[in-house]
Amino acid sequence: MKFIIFGTALFFSLLNANGTEVLQNSSSKINPAKLYAKCINCHGKKGEKSALGKSKIIAKMSKKEIEEALKGYKVGIRNKYGMGGVMKGQAVSLGDDEIKALAEYITKLK
Ligand code: HEC
Repeated sequence: MKFIIFGTALFFSLLNANGTEVLQNSSSKINPAKLYAKCINCHGKKGEKSALGKSKIIAKMSKKEIEEALKGYKVGIRNKYGMGGVMKGQAVSLGDDEIKALAEYITKLK
């Protein structure tokens, strides 16, 4: 059963390259802990580290701030400390719903 759900999700995300529309009403299928796993090296397990000594402590940011930051990095218009390129690489593949789920997850890491 799990494979069927996963396979279906994969199929639809392949149909829609940026995944945003398809995933809109399926946030339950998004696993923010898994998405956050690739952020841990720089931002810390609990979002408690300043990434590369530059970023804010993201666990202290609001959900809205995180969401806006990730969207800005995704489209390449945010570059607060001259390292926006690093974050663009992180955010570019995230769908809007994944960004939302991540933002929510990070605020709960406190
Ligand atoms: C290779 C290290 C690295 C990884 C991995 C990484 N980040 Fe970042 N992050 C940074 C750096 C460096 C900045 C500051 C970028 C700049 O100059 O604007 C930053 C900035 C941010 C900010 C804005 C903080 C501020 O001070 O405004 C958020 C939110 C954020 N990252 C979330 C994430 C999330 C979520 C992930 C995982 C999907 C992630 N980052 C993965 C290095 C990283």
